[in-house]
Amino acid sequence: MGSLLIKNGSLVLPDAIINADIYIEDGKIKSIGTDLSEKADKTLNAEGKLIFPGIIDEHVHCREPGLTYKDNFTNCTKGAAAGGTTTILEMPNTLPPVENVKAFTEKAELLSGKAFVDFGLYGVLHNSNLDQFEPLVEAGVVGFKVFLGPTTGNIPPPSDGALFRILEKSAKHDVTIAFHAENNDIVNFFTSELSRSGSNDPEEHMKARPPVAEEEAIRRIGLFALRTGGRALIVHVSSKEGVNAIRELKHLKANVFGETCPHYLLLNSSDYKKYGPLIKVNPPIRTEEDRLALIDGIADGTISNLGSDHAPHSAEEKKGDIWKAASGIIGVQTLFPLALHMALSGVISLNVLPKILSESPAKLFGLYPNKGALQVGSSADLVIADPKGSWKIKEEDLYATYPTTPFVGWTLKGKIAYTVLRGEVIYDGSTVIGPKGTFVKRIKK
Ligand code: DOR
Ligand code: ZN
Repeated sequence: MGSLLIKNGSLVLPDAIINADIYIEDGKIKSIGTDLSEKADKTLNAEGKLIFPGIIDEHVHCREPGLTYKDNFTNCTKGAAAGGTTTILEMPNTLPPVENVKAFTEKAELLSGKAFVDFGLYGVLHNSNLDQFEPLVEAGVVGFKVFLGPTTGNIPPPSDGALFRILEKSAKHDVTIAFHAENNDIVNFFTSELSRSGSNDPEEHMKARPPVAEEEAIRRIGLFALRTGGRALIVHVSSKEGVNAIRELKHLKANVFGETCPHYLLLNSSDYKKYGPLIKVNPPIRTEEDRLALIDGIADGTISNLGSDHAPHSAEEKKGDIWKAASGIIGVQTLFPLALHMALSGVISLNVLPKILSESPAKLFGLYPNKGALQVGSSADLVIADPKGSWKIKEEDLYATYPTTPFVGWTLKGKIAYTVLRGEVIYDGSTVIGPKGTFVKRIKK
């Protein structure tokens, strides 16, 4: 596999920024220190550059198998590599859904060989497959996804009884459950009432999925997590009420974590006029007050994870009637660039990036410390970025089949120079190299 020496970079760690060299051998970090002089097959000069642990995007929907008219795994993982991401965790609402070991194994086989970054797979749990929990854990899922509210794939929510049982099993097997936390009945009730009113204003989508729907689902999950010891990651937290609920649950010592996504941190309800159904997403983009509460949540650790919720759809599906348009925004390629931009603009701290984008996802999904850490012995997955550079997002630079995002045209602070996966350059600032990705499983304790 060879060796790589990275000279004079600034390593961004969760508690410090240090100037150091990194020596990599056979895909692992062998040493970190000043003035390393190992003879390597290749040397990169990282002077003036920031080095982060490779990004783990814990929340992507690459659409393969079954939905490849929206996008495919090759594009998805090329985008990841170009965006500084070295591992993706792929959501199970594909066709067929990953609800049993057969679907899991077939999906893993189908995607292996097409991966430009490492990837792990989620299983999905619903009322009728609770018996698949243990077999799927045994087969190597990184965790499970549970959809409490309606969204792409129409996977029905589990009953409260099944939800309680899922969290019991989570505690027993030490497996994280990622929750789409919206109350199904509230969303369906409001959606049917508002859609019948005849208004097609894109902002109606936000009103149809009010914050209380998110808050109720989080508090219910939190109560069951408290009573069972189960571990829950609330994905794509979108509201102030959601942040407050997680903060309170954490104070009660519930094993509950929060993830948000760049679109909730960078857009607000005033953007519906400009973008219309393009920014339709579940849960919805909300008010400025919600956006600021999410930023505060990152600052105090209530929101410990940042994922892209990369959710591609065809151009046709993303326009027209707000009630019929598909929900989801692409983001796998812009996750880290947008986060870096926010950090370099002073919105969030630089040191929080390795926590919310690498360490915390790796810990929750059983990949730590092989992944998610810039330390000796860990997999040499890293991203090297120039804080003085900039990147103007253009459709032609994005790998998605339908490369439209609200962020096209934005000029971001910072530019990725290299993405390195297990000691090999997979993106050199202009070209993606590979496929070199492998299938990863949750490390059992
Ligand atoms: O907007 C969304 N799109 N939210 C989800 O929860 C799922 C995703 C998708 O798969 O399209
Ligand atoms: Zn999602």
